[in-house]
Amino acid sequence: MKITIFGTGYVGLVTGACLADVGHHVLCMDVDQGKIEKLKDGQIPIYEPGLDSIVKHTVEAGRLSFTTNTEEAVKHSTLQIIAVGTPPDEDGSADLQYVTAVARSIGEYMEDYRVVVDKSTVPVGTGDKVRAALRAQLDRRGLELDFDVVSNPEFLKEGAAINDFMKPDRIVVGTDSERAAELLREVYYPFNRNHDRMIFMDLRSAELTKYAANSMLATKISFMNEIANLAERLGADIEAVRRGIGSDPRIGYHFIYPGCGYGGSCFPKDVQALARTASDCGYEARLLNAVESVNYAQKHVLFDKISHYFGGDLNGKVVALWGLAFKPNTDDMREASSRTLMEDLWKAGARVQAFDPEAMEETQRIYGDQEGLTLCGTKEQALKGADVLAICTEWKEFRSPDFESIAATIREPVVFDGRNLYEPEMLDRYGLIYYAIGRGRTQFHSE
Ligand code: UDX
Repeated sequence: MKITIFGTGYVGLVTGACLADVGHHVLCMDVDQGKIEKLKDGQIPIYEPGLDSIVKHTVEAGRLSFTTNTEEAVKHSTLQIIAVGTPPDEDGSADLQYVTAVARSIGEYMEDYRVVVDKSTVPVGTGDKVRAALRAQLDRRGLELDFDVVSNPEFLKEGAAINDFMKPDRIVVGTDSERAAELLREVYYPFNRNHDRMIFMDLRSAELTKYAANSMLATKISFMNEIANLAERLGADIEAVRRGIGSDPRIGYHFIYPGCGYGGSCFPKDVQALARTASDCGYEARLLNAVESVNYAQKHVLFDKISHYFGGDLNGKVVALWGLAFKPNTDDMREASSRTLMEDLWKAGARVQAFDPEAMEETQRIYGDQEGLTLCGTKEQALKGADVLAICTEWKEFRSPDFESIAATIREPVVFDGRNLYEPEMLDRYGLIYYAIGRGRTQFHSE
């Protein structure tokens, strides 16, 4: 099948590559000339395991191609997938200008039936706006062509996006058109052969499903972080509590890991956008607002612990920081807890010696010549001359470090772990003081 994808960002590129991999003929369109030239040249603008080899072989096979030409993109296929960005506005609501611009382009160039599939995460009701924008463009041309609008949200995790696309838990399709539903069934047939994972519903419900899924996951995390903060004050161990509650299948073990807050391009943005949507229709989303405010505070928790340890005076202190990406297996630092920590530390007059296995370039891009930041080539180098160690991302290579050399290198034998990577007794044996998230023996525990 021929398929067009607008937007070669994270979602668009992964979707395009995976659809081409199973045999479809995909044309990816982007307005960013530089990006398209790089892609044509085989350079992938994002770090996602497995993506480069799929792009390479599908391009070679002639099933994946790139263009900046809108007219060519619209004419390429019946199926037009929108996967452009929806960055948050100043007030937290999603900015739809790129989505509606694509809708207008489709209306400008289409000559017969089109199915417009929205994959970008957009507020409930956007499908209607897409329909209106496209219709207005057709009216301007004096045409009465048929088209359908479909919501088909993505549920891809960064770092595992290829696997998530290839082996989806579910494929949500929101449409009132049987014709469009049939087309989508055909597109996704290769991913849906053994077990029917397609869930059809109306357009608004599909749009809300995406926000509800991410908000539910964010709620689980904020809930655990709240209990972790409580555990610290009560002298309980959140890791024991986690196992204790996760064993109930109604709760489950997934997504109940406490830590220094969730980040990334989805959770913070989607929780805020859904809360905003709620208030726009006169409903106060109390739970969503609480999820957001717990997470906001949680991102400052490591700083609070470090500051408390030094009696509130961090001036001139040097903190070794392991982990800058918002989670492992990505170089993405959007809304990362590491950024909150670094910014808090700089404000307090401390310096940061940072290392991340993938996000060094991204850190350089964001913070450039920021005073008080030293970028280190290895995790060992980050320790040299540092007072204490802090950890913000649970990369595999941080899981079993040489504790003896950590203890011998940092000036004060203290580790502030925002991801609960170690067992307190283990660090004890090396003479390291360990402050994690929600684990029994902490600074805040008062008998
Ligand atoms: C998320 C959703 O998982 C995905 O389905 C959706 O399509 C996009 O948003 P992603 O942003 O890539 O994916 O990251 P995810 O792996 O879900 O992690 C998000 C954040 O939550 C990370 O900062 C992570 O460290 C944090 N997290 C996750 C926790 O703090 N505790 C947990 O138990 C799980």
